[in-house]
Amino acid sequence: MTTAICPGSFDPVTYGHVDIIKRAAGMFDKVIVAVLVNVQKKPWFTIEERTNLLKKAMAGIENVEIVGFDGLLVDFAATNNANVIVKGLRAISDFEYEFQMALTNNKLNQDIETVFLTTSAENMYLSSSIVKQVGLLGGDISPFVPECVHDEILLRIRQRSKQNEN
Ligand code: PNS
Repeated sequence: MTTAICPGSFDPVTYGHVDIIKRAAGMFDKVIVAVLVNVQKKPWFTIEERTNLLKKAMAGIENVEIVGFDGLLVDFAATNNANVIVKGLRAISDFEYEFQMALTNNKLNQDIETVFLTTSAENMYLSSSIVKQVGLLGGDISPFVPECVHDEILLRIRQRSKQNEN
């Protein structure tokens, strides 16, 4: 049985993430979505909130599990007997950073391989940061995030903007 990990910060989940996770679920026996800390980013949603949003967004897909973890990705992968990491690549701009992470992870654990899936054309431009920016400024985020988590995400973005005002 091959288990793959789909890691990310998912702050918050978008249709771009859903697409990659679904496609990975079609390729591997089991997919564990690892909601992790990216030290380069300041998250708006806690790991628990991000995990819960993903659980709702991916509900019904039998071989997908969502887990939050605040350590090294390679440790998470080893603990879960997974040696494949699946990441989505949007554009050339993603490449350098993703390449660096893939090589670092392979250096830390040579059994682990990273597989890249190109994002679907309609999600090429999409990112969690874009969603937060649009939501914060009162724009419609429905083209970017799953309907079942739309209101929750919007509420949290608005709460966050109010907190920043005070
Ligand atoms: O969605 P992101 O922010 O591009 O995902 C990056 C993430 C969270 C996968 C990466 O920062 C990560 O693996 N964090 C866990 C800590 C770790 O293992 N860091 C070393 C990887 S180079």
